[in-house]
Amino acid sequence: MRLKALPGLMLALGVAGLPGVAAAQAPLAAEGCLGCHGPDGRGAAGAAPIAGRDRAEMVAIMLAFRANERPGTIMGRIARGYTEAEIAAVAEHFSKVAP
Ligand code: HEC
Repeated sequence: MRLKALPGLMLALGVAGLPGVAAAQAPLAAEGCLGCHGPDGRGAAGAAPIAGRDRAEMVAIMLAFRANERPGTIMGRIARGYTEAEIAAVAEHFSKVAP
């Protein structure tokens, strides 16, 4: 009885969980940028502001860092820790933060 109900429960959780995960991902993944890029990504010593930047431009920059096509001291390693979906979510988030 219990085992029979499990797949149904997992399916229900999976379907119900998807939109929630997508919505929660941006701010959480974006937290990892704030230590260097300052509060809300508005910039800090040694790291440019990323708040209010064009979403597509940020995605392109992050993918270039990830592919080792853009020189940097640290961003290549950081960008490689993010999936394309996370990069898109993070770029979406910062594009909406006032610079
Ligand atoms: C450990 C500190 C650190 C963290 C964490 C960090 N960055 Fe950076 N970021 C830098 C530095 C330093 C540069 C300058 C390029 C380099 O040296 O790698 C940079 C450059 C950038 C640039 C290019 C800015 C420009 O105009 O040239 C973007 C966009 C960027 N970071 C986005 C992000 C995002 C998004 C995150 C979070 C996923 C993040 N960074 C996390 C330190 C950091």
